[in-house]
Amino acid sequence: MDARVMRVEGGRPLEGAVAVRGAKNLAPKAMVASLLGRTPSVLTNVPAIRDVEVVSGLLGIHGVAVEWDDAGGMIRLDPANVDSAKIADISLHAGSSRIPILLCGPLLHRLGEAFIPNLGGCAIGGRPINYHLEILRRFGAHVDKEPDGMKLTAPEGLRGTQIELEYPSVGATEQTLLTAVLAEGITELRGAAVEPEILDLVAVLQKMGAIISTETDRVIRIEGVDSLYGFTHTAMPDRIEAASWAAAALATSGSITVLGARQPDMMTFLNYFRKIGGAFEVSDEGIRFFRANGELSSIALETGVHPGFMTDWQQPIVVALTQAEGLSIIHETVYEQRFGFTTALRRMGATIQLYPNCLGGLPCRFGAKNYQHSAVVSGPTPLRAAEIDIPDLRGGFSHVIAALAASGTSSIRGIELIDRGYEHFAEKLAALGARTWRE
Ligand code: EPU
Repeated sequence: MDARVMRVEGGRPLEGAVAVRGAKNLAPKAMVASLLGRTPSVLTNVPAIRDVEVVSGLLGIHGVAVEWDDAGGMIRLDPANVDSAKIADISLHAGSSRIPILLCGPLLHRLGEAFIPNLGGCAIGGRPINYHLEILRRFGAHVDKEPDGMKLTAPEGLRGTQIELEYPSVGATEQTLLTAVLAEGITELRGAAVEPEILDLVAVLQKMGAIISTETDRVIRIEGVDSLYGFTHTAMPDRIEAASWAAAALATSGSITVLGARQPDMMTFLNYFRKIGGAFEVSDEGIRFFRANGELSSIALETGVHPGFMTDWQQPIVVALTQAEGLSIIHETVYEQRFGFTTALRRMGATIQLYPNCLGGLPCRFGAKNYQHSAVVSGPTPLRAAEIDIPDLRGGFSHVIAALAASGTSSIRGIELIDRGYEHFAEKLAALGARTWRE
């Protein structure tokens, strides 16, 4: 069976309940943190997704004993025998993910050297790593670019430092945390990202014995310690997956209970969801999402770093906005090329125009650079089935939502990109009454 094409029969509301697993953007990073401990770590609520597989593989070849208990999504990581890996084995992971760059600090602490494969990740912009390299150099690492990746050494060890990020990058903040906790002395990070996934990583590191204080105005202070031990932690739920199902309920006029979704992590999303015409009921088990009274309203929104509207919520919500009355304006300020998925939506009947200007908000980093990073959606427009090639993870999920809301049967190619970030995706769709099958 070719698992890469999914056929989706649209036109029926999604109804029922799905459970979100642990956050894609936390679990692999907590796994990386296990390298810093002297004793084993246990992480539960781990999603069975590509980034987790990649990190398991990379940890495994560096001598970490990785044991899975699939039933509970539990992983046990024993770093007792960490050792250098063969470059040929590391290179097998080239192009697979962006997470490997976060192994730099932990491997330098453990081994005095690290080799990082060339990175992968979704094509949603240039995705440079200049902040990461600058941070590692400030800690005292030497970085050499090689054909298959990057070689790092730290002949004099890693020392705490002062870092000021020009943009609150999630990855750069994580790089700093994972390196600073065992670096000698104090590190002060200004301009840090403060996403809930980052605070969950701080919680993991604190359980390991790290001393980290998150202060006001995006300042994080880390006092390096001599050694860390293992952690036991349950990964926070995936608030991006939760929002994707919420948008699917809006777009298909359905009712979806997202078990495990947590209101505090989704405050900003919930405000916009309500303004568009969505309603939600919060309970101890999760959040039920549905339309308030049938009609959806247009809105203006701008994506941004936490506590703003997440860039990863943007694509699914755009699909719902194709069904809203009037003109919606969306200004994407995190990634310069995150509207690629709208090409397919237009073929399905949506009216969406892209603009290089910063529409409806303050000028952002991309304003003068000719990136099509603002969109105007005019609705409501009925959607019809199409043949679609998935461009990236979140864009792909949005295409599936659009296909579920459309009349007819769509054919979606590249479905493995969705499997990369959404566990048991097809099973969850089936539980909501969707008719999909793989060919
Ligand atoms: N940036 C630089 N230089 C750097 C690093 C980042 O210019 O060295 C720029 C990026 O190009 C981008 C902005 O800073 O324009 C923000 O990037 P950030 O570093 O915050 O993103 P990331 O760590 O690479 C994580 C998530 C993304 C999520 C963003 C923003 C993971 C594995 N990925 O990426 O998730 O969109 O934070 O919240 O945690 C996804 O889940 O589909 C996804 C893309």
